[in-house]
Amino acid sequence: MNATDTSSTSFSTLIRTASHEQHTQAETSTFMSDLLGGRLGVEAYARYTEQLWFVYEALEADAERLTADPVAGPFVRPELLRSAALERDLAHLRGPDWRATLTALPATRTYAARVAECAREWPGGYVAHHYTRYLGDLSGGQIIRGRAEQTWGFARKGDGVRFYTFEDITNPAAFKRAYRELLDAVRADDLERQRIVAECKRAFALNTAVLRALGDEFRLSA
Ligand code: HEM
Repeated sequence: MNATDTSSTSFSTLIRTASHEQHTQAETSTFMSDLLGGRLGVEAYARYTEQLWFVYEALEADAERLTADPVAGPFVRPELLRSAALERDLAHLRGPDWRATLTALPATRTYAARVAECAREWPGGYVAHHYTRYLGDLSGGQIIRGRAEQTWGFARKGDGVRFYTFEDITNPAAFKRAYRELLDAVRADDLERQRIVAECKRAFALNTAVLRALGDEFRLSA
């Protein structure tokens, strides 16, 4: 079966399989490996958190309007929203004036602009970006949280790691199952599903570009 055969594979499996290789790339990027390996200072973590703020701003600014959309609407859930949590983390990491020094890397600007464009113009594309971020945050995000708590001493699920703490999702495994059912039922024909898969790959590539730029900024001396 080829990877884009949508006839016999559930859409949630298809999108997961299609992004598997890129997931490994993101996971094993120099920046992520150094961050998870405890080799970087808290400033690198703060800089990463700051980049996420721009991405979630783009994902969430239009969320309210998108709840009425037949394709994207079912995915938009208040318990997922991360902007407020990111702002608390940034206030903790950078202090009360965190907004004054907030800067997006060029790769982050490109990523956030694409998310905003999808949010405005293409609900199917928005679903691809929604999946790539929120399902990842509910999964690998939990590993990152544990490492961050260990490495920089944040309180468990407290300030600094609120982004990874989904207070209103008591059973993440059940939530992810329900999310995959939503993906399987997405109101899109085969061609549109293929376009969504392609956008998901683009979303992973946009993430990897941000990680690469962070890797350049926080290069460990050999
Ligand atoms: C070091 C970093 C990362 C680790 C350790 C990690 C780890 C994981 C793990 C263990 C899962 C499987 C969860 C499950 O089967 O329920 C997962 C799923 C996922 N991750 Fe990551 N991940 C990382 C980075 C990323 C990044 C950068 C992205 C993209 C922005 C991402 C997106 C996803 C998505 C979308 C899923 C859900 C796959 C699916 O079930 O459909 N992850 N991750």
